[in-house]
Amino acid sequence: MHTRPFGRTGAQVSEVGFGCASWWGRADFSEQAAIALVRQALDGGVTLFDTGASYSQGAAEARLGRALAGRDLDGVIVATKAGTDFRDGRIVRDFSPDGIEASIARSRERLGLDTLPLLQLHGPAQAEIGAPLMERLEQLRARGWFRWLGLNSFDAGVLAWAAGAPAFEAIMLDYNVLRPGRAALVAQAAANGKAVLAGMPLAMGHAGLQVLKLRAPRDLWYAARGLVRHRREVREGARFGFLRRLPGWSAAQAALGWVLADERVACAVAGTTRQQHLAELIAVSGRRLPEEVLARISAAQSRLPPH
Ligand SMILES: NC(=O)c1ccc[n+]([C@@H]2O[C@H](COP(=O)([O-])OP(=O)(O)OC[C@H]3O[C@@H](n4cnc5c(N)ncnc54)[C@H](OP(=O)(O)O)[C@@H]3O)[C@@H](O)[C@H]2O)c1
Repeated sequence: MHTRPFGRTGAQVSEVGFGCASWWGRADFSEQAAIALVRQALDGGVTLFDTGASYSQGAAEARLGRALAGRDLDGVIVATKAGTDFRDGRIVRDFSPDGIEASIARSRERLGLDTLPLLQLHGPAQAEIGAPLMERLEQLRARGWFRWLGLNSFDAGVLAWAAGAPAFEAIMLDYNVLRPGRAALVAQAAANGKAVLAGMPLAMGHAGLQVLKLRAPRDLWYAARGLVRHRREVREGARFGFLRRLPGWSAAQAALGWVLADERVACAVAGTTRQQHLAELIAVSGRRLPEEVLARISAAQSRLPPH
């Protein structure tokens, strides 16, 4: 596994990270299989595991804690998120200083970690990130509750602000073949020394439409998520069908390879529930997509509707 600098922190991170979210964290998915994937990732050199308080109906964080229990976590970046939680069957937002403090306390407990290596604010609006919150965060950092601060958002304005704010060591944004427009923000964040984390590097499985290959209940869940909530990705992903026919690369590998071709990305955080798929993703590290494939992707991207 190749590593890259984790921004200007002096730490290194595996260029492929593992996303502990979605089906991976849900009760419908066997805990044994979920834990086996984490162990496989660790054994394959993955050093970043990304989760969130609200992920998988609130169940992902504690599952990741159980998966990592008793493992040597030296050099491993466990990344979680605060500001959203899952309560009474829905996602609840709370970016108040007290709400964030309580959320971090719960995450430390669930993950079994005194110090969270990376705490990310999860989709705050600009108005929610005022001085009282930032001051509280620095107090909690000084108390050792977390080491590095990050921010994860889909909002270009918030991302641009965080990319220039000294308090943040890391920025996570949606960067994938369907979102090439994020490159400017990636450049800005990297130029400011932030560790750029590419969330959704597989475009949730829609690049090349591999997500529509249905074999098990989880595939129906992922496909339904796309058809209900991410129709745009499904539509745009269809333009990248050629990714399914590349010699020596699966569509998922090519999607990941495109993200990793951008050296300003510190780590691409990919999600999977299958060991064979995880092995394929890990195998992308250190490989470079052929120039003609990158050119073909670029041509398809130039025909994407503007975002
Ligand atoms: N989605 C969001 O809104 C969001 C926002 C912020 C951050 N993130 C972070 O980004 C992470 C990953 O997002 P993601 O775009 O990778 O998507 P994802 O939501 O985890 O979905 C990945 C999809 O790709 C499939 N897949 C994975 N590897 C594959 C392979 N080798 N071959 C074929 N299919 C494969 C998975 O199916 P299998 O299970 O069958 O492999 C699944 O259907 C999340 O876990 C989270 O940490 C996500």
